[in-house]
Amino acid sequence: MDDDYRNIFNDSFERCAKDPQFLDRFYTLFIDCNDEVRELFRHTDMARQKELMMITLSYMMLAQSTPELLDRVAERHNRRNLDIRPHLYVTWLDCMLAAVHQTDPKFSREVDAAWRATLKPGIDYLVRHYDPEDSVLQD
Ligand code: HEM
Repeated sequence: MDDDYRNIFNDSFERCAKDPQFLDRFYTLFIDCNDEVRELFRHTDMARQKELMMITLSYMMLAQSTPELLDRVAERHNRRNLDIRPHLYVTWLDCMLAAVHQTDPKFSREVDAAWRATLKPGIDYLVRHYDPEDSVLQD
């Protein structure tokens, strides 16, 4: 990914991370988007979830060079554990970008593209590790 995207993403992420409402907006959008997602988060401690998500977003940024940072999250989300089916990552990303749009006053098409490009390697990694039975074939 080119440095321009990296800088655009970093600046936007900083603006979002400063706003305490950012992840509230994301989880409201995500949980309201369909019943499958709502059901999965029914018993979740959302304060803890938001803290872990903020840390994990920084791992997502590093996924191209250091994907192993996501191993624990990948294991938790795989078919044997939370069973987060791959199509839900598309919804996750769209809701994340909608939350960025609501939060970042400098949101633009470029900001949108920079977030998508930055998060793609991490999402691809989690999706590739969805099915542990297949991991020998996929790695
Ligand atoms: C790139 C995308 C994602 C990232 C970075 C991510 C990150 C995380 C993290 C850090 C946790 C906490 C893990 C722990 O408790 O140790 C978590 C839990 C969880 N995630 Fe994700 N997640 C992603 C996508 C999704 C998607 C698409 C779903 C679909 C609904 C989902 C549903 C859940 C659920 C249900 C939990 C457990 C909540 C609980 O413990 O009650 N995640 N996720």
